[in-house]
Amino acid sequence: MPVGSALAGASSSRTVSVALVADSSRILASERDFARPKIASPGGCGFNSCPLVETPRYGAFPARCSDRAKDSCPTFAFQCGQRTVLTRMSVKDRWAEWLTYKRYGGDTEAARRGLDELSRWRDRVLANARLSEGESLLDVGCGDGLIGFGALERGAGMVVFSDVSRDLLDACHEAATDLGVLDRCRFLRASADDLTSLADGSVDVVTTRSVLIYVDDKASAFVEFSRVLRPEGRISLFEPINRFARPSADTWAGYDLGAIPDISRKVRAVYSALQPPDSDPMLNFDERDLIDLAERAGFFPIHLDLEARLTALEPRGWDGFLNSAGNPLIPTVAESMQQALTPAEQKRFVAHLRPLVEGGHGMSRMATAYLWAGKL
Ligand SMILES: C[S@@+](CC[C@H](N)C(=O)[O-])C[C@H]1O[C@@H](n2cnc3c(N)ncnc32)[C@H](O)[C@@H]1O
Repeated sequence: MPVGSALAGASSSRTVSVALVADSSRILASERDFARPKIASPGGCGFNSCPLVETPRYGAFPARCSDRAKDSCPTFAFQCGQRTVLTRMSVKDRWAEWLTYKRYGGDTEAARRGLDELSRWRDRVLANARLSEGESLLDVGCGDGLIGFGALERGAGMVVFSDVSRDLLDACHEAATDLGVLDRCRFLRASADDLTSLADGSVDVVTTRSVLIYVDDKASAFVEFSRVLRPEGRISLFEPINRFARPSADTWAGYDLGAIPDISRKVRAVYSALQPPDSDPMLNFDERDLIDLAERAGFFPIHLDLEARLTALEPRGWDGFLNSAGNPLIPTVAESMQQALTPAEQKRFVAHLRPLVEGGHGMSRMATAYLWAGKL
């Protein structure tokens, strides 16, 4: 469907289409919304000791990076095809903080590996979406734009970047400006389970990548996806199946802590208090639930590919490991150590764990589900 028909009236890049939007007061796309001053930190990043030109999400980038970093920080880089776009953001919320720094803790090598993997996931989500030239796509939980900019690169006529994080929507807006694609973008601050700002039947494709794991009411999210899709529209999702990775009593983060059981118990307690394994939305579903949810929301046909793998962990730098967190809702390793352990215990913990991390002596258990389906 040509984008104009789904988003009729979107004549100005800064004006939200009334055809698309049921309640314009809930849309973050006005000049006012994006005119917030960016936070600059004179003399340094000041953000978790992140080096000025560190671009953990997209790896290290050349030339313009240091130029831009002089006047504003933190920077992050977004790569669209051959182009690297560097953008500034006032990092405030936990989602933005994790995507831009805590995911890799400043370890550029880990970030490079992560980017390779993210690119493969993005390509597969978009391939499953069977996006055609000119179609409109809503990316729910867009983050810093992995799927949305990938869709624009593949000819999407219009992308709605949607997220709960205002900071990430700002970053996407800025990247879209730098890339010269703002006229094909809309920005919506909304939770996946409540997209009431979007009119029924307003987009051709809905995507998510690692978003439903954070949503309590997944059933409502699927119903909303179905509602905002035009007849014969498609969803294409990627979600980790974290139950698969549930660790044994002796392992934590893929490493064997059997030799320090007292410390292991204390560290693990920090995480299970925050994300109880039986009720947390990251852990309380698997691939069969995703299929059920899609079916109950009226999607058909439904396809799901499950990929599971047990692999050796790559060796990692200790500092990056310490400063990283497994997801946006939990503390970094350093933070949890400080919270749970006495100084003497911290020493024993580091003495045991550091060689394992630096030597890559651990195992990753990971399963991911790709689901794609049509709206009847
Ligand atoms: C792991 S990040 C993934 C970002 C992006 N989809 C990607 O592939 O890089 C999770 C994203 O989900 C967003 N998010 C968290 N809870 C959400 C919710 N209830 N509704 C919509 N987005 C949500 C976060 O702000 C964050 O951008």
